[in-house]
Amino acid sequence: MHVPDQHPLLKVLTERGGVCFLLGATDAGKSTLIRDMVQLLSIRGQAVMVLDADVGQSTYGLPTTLNLVRFSVDDQQRVVPHVVASVFVGATSPVGHLLPVVVGCRRLMDRALALGFDTLLIDPTGFVEGPLAVELKLQKIDLLRPTQVLALVRANELQPILHACRQRADMSVYCLPVPAAARSRSPAERRANRQERYRCYFTDLVRVSFRLGDTAVWGRWPQCAGRDLKGLLVGLNDAYGYCCGVGLLSGCTERTIAVDLPRSCSAVREVRLLRFGSVALDPDGNERFISPRQW
Ligand SMILES: Nc1ncnc2c1ncn2[C@@H]1O[C@H](COP(=O)(O)OP(=O)(O)OP(=O)(O)O)[C@@H](O)[C@H]1O
Ligand SMILES: [Mg+2]
Repeated sequence: MHVPDQHPLLKVLTERGGVCFLLGATDAGKSTLIRDMVQLLSIRGQAVMVLDADVGQSTYGLPTTLNLVRFSVDDQQRVVPHVVASVFVGATSPVGHLLPVVVGCRRLMDRALALGFDTLLIDPTGFVEGPLAVELKLQKIDLLRPTQVLALVRANELQPILHACRQRADMSVYCLPVPAAARSRSPAERRANRQERYRCYFTDLVRVSFRLGDTAVWGRWPQCAGRDLKGLLVGLNDAYGYCCGVGLLSGCTERTIAVDLPRSCSAVREVRLLRFGSVALDPDGNERFISPRQW
């Protein structure tokens, strides 16, 4: 356990619960710490949820999605995750996709509030430095209204965000040092990690053709004529806009959109809204980025 058992934050969360927003640069150990906190609080009998908001290195869902997760404890005291709602963003970084990320986080937060929890832990990306990152974090914090901010601090990298949060009366700020064992992962390692996640998800594919009329596209759609958009990620959303699966674009006409999706994706009949992503995959799961600006 990397938060001391007697840490005041754990005492507060154990006794009163709350919404705790993790803050830290890339590879600061946020997701590891959250995993440990989930373990500890779940074993203590709390209803814990995680809002996994890292579209690049998601712990619980497919890259490019945001996920809300609850946990159960089995007979052997193992803590088992269950994804209860997903939002498709369609990108592996918040940069260029700020609105879908913040709106998606808020939608999952509302879902969590409707389902009920004692403690909700929010695991964002490590995008913390520079004016855009500071703006995104502070807007996200304002929108999600955490009761606690827990920062993993290396040097001065979080100072602008923490200094602002400390002035707020509606949240408490706690700081821990980045653990010595936290390890940096190269862009290549991160890419390989995503590739493996895609490879596991996109197996045993079937082609499904969605007729526009029975379904609709939520948002922009790319001009398909003369473009190679094969393999573009397509979010398959239900009538409430939550993601019930992700497919790979195989082709589209004015009337139909055909996607390849895992046979195990049982929710095809629930799909009402399709959303195009900005990443295409080749059969090996290699990514090709297609910015909506190029559409
Ligand atoms: N306390 C720890 N003890 C041992 N290893 C750790 C610890 N904390 C982090 N690590 C290792 O460091 C790496 C980065 O940790 P982690 O994924 O938790 O960071 P993160 O802040 O969530 O990163 P990202 O910004 O990419 O989401 C991982 O390989 C993890 O196993
Ligand atoms: Mg992480």
